[in-house]
Amino acid sequence: MCGIFGYLNYRVPRTRRDIIQTLMKGLQRLEYRGYDSAGVAVDGSGKDHAASISLYKKTGKVKALDEEIYKNNSIDLEAELDTHFGIAHTRWATHGEPSSVNSHPQRSDKNNEFVVIHNGIITNYKELKKYLVSKGYDFESDTDTEVIPKLIKYLYDNRENDYVSFSTLVERVIRQLQGAFALVFKSIHFPGEAIATRRGSPLLIGVRSQYELSTEQIPVQYNCSDSKTDEQEKNLLNRRGSTNALHSVHDRLAVEFYFASDASAIIEHTNKVIYLEDDDIAVVVEGKLYVHRVKRAAGEDPVRVIQTLQMELQQIMKGNFKAFMQKEIFEQPESVVNTMRGRICFESDTVILGGLSDHLKEIKRCRRLIMIGCGTSYHAGVATRQILEELTELPVMVELASDFLDRITPVFRDDVCFFISQSGETADTLMALRYCKQRGALTVGITNTVGSSICRETDCGVHINAGPEVGVASTKAYTSQFVSLIMFGLMVSADRLSMQQRRLEIINGLKKLPELIKEVLALDDNIRSIADELHHQRSLLVMGRGYNYATCLEGALKIKEITYMHSEGILAGELKHGPLALIDKHMPVIMIITKDACYTKCHNALQQITARQGRPIILCCQDDPEISKIAYKTIELPQTVDCLQGILSVIPLQLMSFHLAVLRGYDVDCPRNLAKSVTVE
Ligand code: F6R
Repeated sequence: MCGIFGYLNYRVPRTRRDIIQTLMKGLQRLEYRGYDSAGVAVDGSGKDHAASISLYKKTGKVKALDEEIYKNNSIDLEAELDTHFGIAHTRWATHGEPSSVNSHPQRSDKNNEFVVIHNGIITNYKELKKYLVSKGYDFESDTDTEVIPKLIKYLYDNRENDYVSFSTLVERVIRQLQGAFALVFKSIHFPGEAIATRRGSPLLIGVRSQYELSTEQIPVQYNCSDSKTDEQEKNLLNRRGSTNALHSVHDRLAVEFYFASDASAIIEHTNKVIYLEDDDIAVVVEGKLYVHRVKRAAGEDPVRVIQTLQMELQQIMKGNFKAFMQKEIFEQPESVVNTMRGRICFESDTVILGGLSDHLKEIKRCRRLIMIGCGTSYHAGVATRQILEELTELPVMVELASDFLDRITPVFRDDVCFFISQSGETADTLMALRYCKQRGALTVGITNTVGSSICRETDCGVHINAGPEVGVASTKAYTSQFVSLIMFGLMVSADRLSMQQRRLEIINGLKKLPELIKEVLALDDNIRSIADELHHQRSLLVMGRGYNYATCLEGALKIKEITYMHSEGILAGELKHGPLALIDKHMPVIMIITKDACYTKCHNALQQITARQGRPIILCCQDDPEISKIAYKTIELPQTVDCLQGILSVIPLQLMSFHLAVLRGYDVDCPRNLAKSVTVE
């Protein structure tokens, strides 16, 4: 989805060039969220810089916008601005084609009185637009977002009091909005002030100050903007009270604030952040940050705490790799260790997931487990379903979040529902979570993003600790989700005597996993040479069954999303029920045949393919002369426990898709039409 970035410097002199560079860098970090166009709003040039707002927008990547700004001779880049607020946005189109006019910031009018950046979707924009058009407001874009700056200007133009505050206006705006949003506002009427608010889309604020920030808490204020008289509005800041603001004690404070859709854009500036909750309105006035809400909901925490992010910038940099995706594939020996760290004790063969301990009894008594996710995260559920059924002896359903909701699937109080999501923000998964919560099920998050919506809204959960995943195509998150779900099965089955041998086998397999992943990564050259042969093809089928079926689905998804080749993951058991018709000597097929309970059945499928002159490339175990004889080419994998084999067999397909995309000349980290975090349904 779209990426939002804002930067406010208060009593920190910065040149306009520095400010623009900070905004551009923030956007570049967020580009993986969506990248069909980008835009920025800063104060205009001239003596009273805050009296006007300059907007720059451009289709394409952030780099194109950057070049556009520097081409523009009228900007005074060297002017020093003691206090300034700039906003920037990278867009992934939902309403309206990618174009300059549709990119953000969206504006209220030709004078840019109010400008707004938005991530999400406003579902009632048509009604609002109709109303505003009837009041004489002209629209220029096809976006849903444009109603927001127009609406705030309408409210400003029709204010009852002379001294309406910016936050009052924003509060009135969001009362009218339906849908999902993270919004940041800037206005010539409120120079140096910043307002950010969210509902359903992520937004956080980083704070960098000359004073050490540690455990500060910002008390949330309620009903601030219900004031009606001029006098009350005038005194709004005073009424908020100095103790309600961050930095209230530091009168002459120099401070910088960073607003962003996620931490990757903030971490290089500060590790002190505040995660906003739905319907929070965060206001920065005279360098002080306030958070307020219309009213306090039952059980709601009345403070927002400054958290310290543990993420390192180098964790999110590409290093020597050509792409983030490639880096993340090669990080897997380490990322799976991080997933297991502190949870599996290999000396005593115990597995404890701290985030689930308090709910273990309830989980063991449940009616069934339901695993819900989208895309790759859904595949992690498919990959582990069989072993979870075996270890927990519970029925396990695996559901695509969108379909689960479309079917209005029956959910009961004694169900345990897992929400698997790398970003923790995927709208379909989040909606499914809310749906299950309403029906009283226990909700468990399996996420990679601390502080994400799914993390916060589930009853309990597991952080997969794979580290930041920047490449749009998910790789290391998949293997870490896989390992986390296996650990869950091991934890639940710890007291089942009949399971002990199986458990030991799996725990042993997990211990050796990082070394085996390294062995698979060492096959990269072989995989690249196969990719070289395949990269002109239009289609690529991936076939297997049993524990390897999820690998077929996941491998095919990787291939289609970054190489734009048609690719299908096919259950080998279904071959003769249709897909066999596709097979001839021209159709490239990858088969996964490893030594497990499905080995003989996979052999049968292989015979059916070679009998039709198919030339399968086979992912098989080392030392399998039978397969090597029949295969057109082989990729030989180390063998592990059957239920962990999918972790090893998916890696060659991740590498294959990467090489195919590079050979076909595509930008691996930014596949067309896709976004890293899909925060709309
Ligand atoms: C594919 C991919 C997507 C995501 C899906 C869910 O490589 O990345 O299919 O897996 O959009 O995203 P999360 O896991 O963030 O909920």
